[in-house]
Amino acid sequence: MSAPTRVLFVCLGNICRSPTAHGVFESLVARAGLASQVEVRSGGTVGHHAGDPPDERSQAHARARGYDLSHLRAHQVTAHDLADADLVLAMDRSNLANLERLAAVADRPKIKLFLDFAPAQPRREVPDPYYGGPAGFEEVLDLVEAASHGLLAHLRDVGRAA
Ligand code: 4NP
Repeated sequence: MSAPTRVLFVCLGNICRSPTAHGVFESLVARAGLASQVEVRSGGTVGHHAGDPPDERSQAHARARGYDLSHLRAHQVTAHDLADADLVLAMDRSNLANLERLAAVADRPKIKLFLDFAPAQPRREVPDPYYGGPAGFEEVLDLVEAASHGLLAHLRDVGRAA
């Protein structure tokens, strides 16, 4: 069997948005029976929270929709992580710009906005929920679920997940 497709989700701290994307997309992939073909990772562009579990609020909102994020731990993205991934999905344009600076030139084409895979959503960026209320965490989940479905459909279209 061919090597799994490696998808890396990235936000700022890797405690809210990218762990949510990690848990939601991993769950979708598992439910589709594609766990051996798609490998999911996540990271942050900064290391302030390295080693921490996802924010309690992200975990609680995700749990209410059936996603367990408790096993995830924050990690700061390195240039090596970018070289190692097939697709790097940034939550916002600031994350995207930071990743493009970090990446080797050859790895830059792999970096995209995650919401490119949710073209029907009016937003192009997943807003940072950290300093806001519960509605922000719900919006993150809505956007992440929409883009996760679009991403899985894309991987199937390009033959990276059967
Ligand atoms: P995330 O959210 O990038 O979605 O994980 C944030 C988490 C922590 C901070 C900012 C955003 N912070 O400033 O500590």
